[in-house]
Amino acid sequence: MVSFRDVLFTQVSLLQGALACGFHAGLSPAENPLLRRSTVPDLPTKKILIQNVRVFDGHVILPPRDIVIDGSIIGNDSSDSDEIIDGHHDFLIPGPIDSHTHVQQISHMEDLSRYEVTTAFNMNCLNFTNCEIFKSQVGLTSIFTAGVPIIAPNSDHARTTPIPKSMLITDLSQAEFEENGPTQEMQDAAVRASHSRGMQSSTHASWGIPYQQAIQSKTDSIHHIFGESLFAKKWLLRMKAQGQFSVTILTVMWYGSENPIVREYLHGTTETSQTYPIYRENVKRLHEVGVRVVAGTDAFEAGMKEIEALRAATSLPAELCSLSDRGVIAPGRRADLIPLNSDPFVNISNTKDINRVWIQGIEYTDVAKLA
Ligand SMILES: *[C@@H]1O[C@H](CO)[C@@H](O)[C@H](O)[C@H]1NC(C)=O
Ligand SMILES: *[C@@H]1O[C@H](CO)[C@@H](O)[C@H](O)[C@H]1NC(C)=O
Ligand SMILES: *[C@@H]1O[C@H](CO)[C@@H](O)[C@H](O)[C@H]1NC(C)=O
Repeated sequence: MVSFRDVLFTQVSLLQGALACGFHAGLSPAENPLLRRSTVPDLPTKKILIQNVRVFDGHVILPPRDIVIDGSIIGNDSSDSDEIIDGHHDFLIPGPIDSHTHVQQISHMEDLSRYEVTTAFNMNCLNFTNCEIFKSQVGLTSIFTAGVPIIAPNSDHARTTPIPKSMLITDLSQAEFEENGPTQEMQDAAVRASHSRGMQSSTHASWGIPYQQAIQSKTDSIHHIFGESLFAKKWLLRMKAQGQFSVTILTVMWYGSENPIVREYLHGTTETSQTYPIYRENVKRLHEVGVRVVAGTDAFEAGMKEIEALRAATSLPAELCSLSDRGVIAPGRRADLIPLNSDPFVNISNTKDINRVWIQGIEYTDVAKLA
């Protein structure tokens, strides 16, 4: 059984498949990474009763009901509430989970909190002291982090990631220690090494061949998608049969295909055979064949219904990453709750119509006004 709990997960970056994310802009933190804008709140002890609110519990939509926040968890008994809030028949959703982020400083977590992301998976960490501090910020987005990414020399990632040369890997034996290279053998070894430590592995691949390599390695999740060729049925079925899930991050792929400056930065050339319609079609194929697609800073697209998109950002990643304390609204779960002013099932953009943000029962008050 693999689990994110108390362990790091490993990240494998396949050589030819390395399409970088925003993080790789190589920017080191602009300010002290440990600077926190908001004050550190006390742990919550209040009991808050929210009345008459329609609930998307992570799976289905429920008619108006009462929900209790009891300290940092969702309670089951509304007696003796300290505060009563009228839910106005609006919508309550579980705090969204972003399955693909690059958090380098505490202020990034404050930005995520402002935008209602209550849990985020950080795709790599080059400073473990800082990452440990990120994980214990009361009242901010809860962070799960990978360790040092597994990157081979001469890859796009080696060029675009601010990683010391000494942390790149060149040899199969290093795969035991969160290191990897471009060959199938190395990828397989890295995935085996994570699994033998009870960790999940996440692999980045954004070209067809590395994607196949990732599928073959039985890595748990594959991030990004490819856009130079159509996803063949054989590989789709194999991915599904192996229970692998996908974090496609279409927005980033869109930038990569549409913007020549971004393209040159990512690939070292403005030429590309990857196009957005093919990225999109491949995500659609993943979804249609039944591979689970979770949200990593935008996957609400490509043929998903609103409710599927919301599951992809709540209950599904929680389930796939064995986080049994969140992703759904039920007694005993973390009180990561987002009341919305308008109906996300009419238009998924209404998830931006944020009324407030509670992270573990603590209100984050500096909420982005997006609607
Ligand atoms: C209510 O929650 C308490 C504390 O979490 C638990 O002990 C109890 O079994 C729950 N009762 C019901 C009916 O779920
Ligand atoms: C990690 O970041 C801190 C600043 O928060 C810095 O003092 C420390 O030197 C860094 N550690 C490494 C190994 O770079
Ligand atoms: C959903 O809302 C967005 C933002 O308000 C709007 O641009 C879009 O047209 C809406 N979509 C539908 C199907 O109404």
